[in-house]
Amino acid sequence: MFSFNIRNLKATNVTKIILVLPFTFIYLNTMKAKGNFETLAIRTQSERSKEKEHSTALHLTSSYAYENAEEMKNIFSGEQQGNLYSRISNPNTAELIEKICLMEGAEDGIATATGMSAIFTALAGVLENGDHVLACRSIFSSTNTILTKMLPKWGISYTYVDVDDTKNWQNFVQENTKVVFIETPTNPSLDIIDLEWLGKFSAKNNLIFMVDNCFATPYLQQPIKYGANIVIHSATKYIDGQGRVLGGLIAGDKILIDKIFGFSIHSGTAMSPFNAWVLSKSLETLAVRMDRHCENAFKLAVILEKHPKTEQVKYPFLESHPNFEIAKKQMKQGGGLISFVVKGGIEGGKSFIDKLSMISISANLGDTRSIVTHPASSTHSGLTDEEKLELRILPGLIRMSVGLEHVDDIIADIEHALK
Ligand SMILES: Cc1ncc(COP(=O)(O)O)c(C=O)c1O
Repeated sequence: MFSFNIRNLKATNVTKIILVLPFTFIYLNTMKAKGNFETLAIRTQSERSKEKEHSTALHLTSSYAYENAEEMKNIFSGEQQGNLYSRISNPNTAELIEKICLMEGAEDGIATATGMSAIFTALAGVLENGDHVLACRSIFSSTNTILTKMLPKWGISYTYVDVDDTKNWQNFVQENTKVVFIETPTNPSLDIIDLEWLGKFSAKNNLIFMVDNCFATPYLQQPIKYGANIVIHSATKYIDGQGRVLGGLIAGDKILIDKIFGFSIHSGTAMSPFNAWVLSKSLETLAVRMDRHCENAFKLAVILEKHPKTEQVKYPFLESHPNFEIAKKQMKQGGGLISFVVKGGIEGGKSFIDKLSMISISANLGDTRSIVTHPASSTHSGLTDEEKLELRILPGLIRMSVGLEHVDDIIADIEHALK
């Protein structure tokens, strides 16, 4: 058994010790955080080096050096605090983890290489052979692949439930159900799931409640307040916010994070220190960026809703959204994504994006640059028509990530392409 401190953050005075048992990790956290969301995002910082740099230094190192054999022995045995290896801990990833925990109201967290590695690591870390997962039917395509193709290889089954059919969820709980996994808003159909209801449902059935909070970000929605046990992010999206790096984050109950961390360090899902440095700097501007994403998206959604060439415009804060009231209850603003159907089927969708002149055609979202995706001909083209319909992917569906360009320019480009 050995222990070491992975975090040493001046702003929050964190003392975090991991006691490493063969495959178990126990964190002792004495963190005392103060301040508002924006302040925590900016002022949470790892200790300055002797250079006294104002902005966090980049600790681009795979391992750490020790003064002598005795020091290394002491750090490995836990008698002395220190880093062992960057697959386990690094000052840049520690700072990022600390921030996301403060923003989500989580006890502890883990940084991973991508959003998908966060999802896989969280599920694999808590599930055992024979377990069952309950998940919302409309879900990100790679998460769908993990649930339907990968986890079954290890004897883990799943059931999809409809997001609006909450009355029925109880009927799908089995004796071996362990996890409820959802995203809200969902990708790409922007369905909204009632976190408060699901939090109570999960607690009543003794289920681990996991939420992919990638579309909302902790600035707009904090699922832990509603009873989520684990919150997951593709940090590649709004947390970076500028389309530069990949990353994933897991935050939640300490006892679960300990288990997931065990899986993470041995399977090697760690985030690169460079990406952690970029993402931690990005979090400093998350609030201001999200305010503008939401403002631009709402203005555009109102215009799209009235446009004769579009139908089924979905934006969580439009009154026409089927779950508008729930969105208002659990989200601070409606987010930066809009989904809408361009009339004319698959060809209508393709010709619309071909006529755009400024807005990018890309698979990413959450960028400063506005982006459109036509799921039926790209991200979801491998699915059968029946599968697409189940995920609410209509032929003319467009997912738009509204960026931070001037809103008049975004609107002008969309209106021109719809002519
Ligand atoms: C909701 C959601 N979750 C997870 C992911 C996966 O993230 P990454 O691409 O960082 O692996 C994505 C990617 O688009 C996503 O939209």
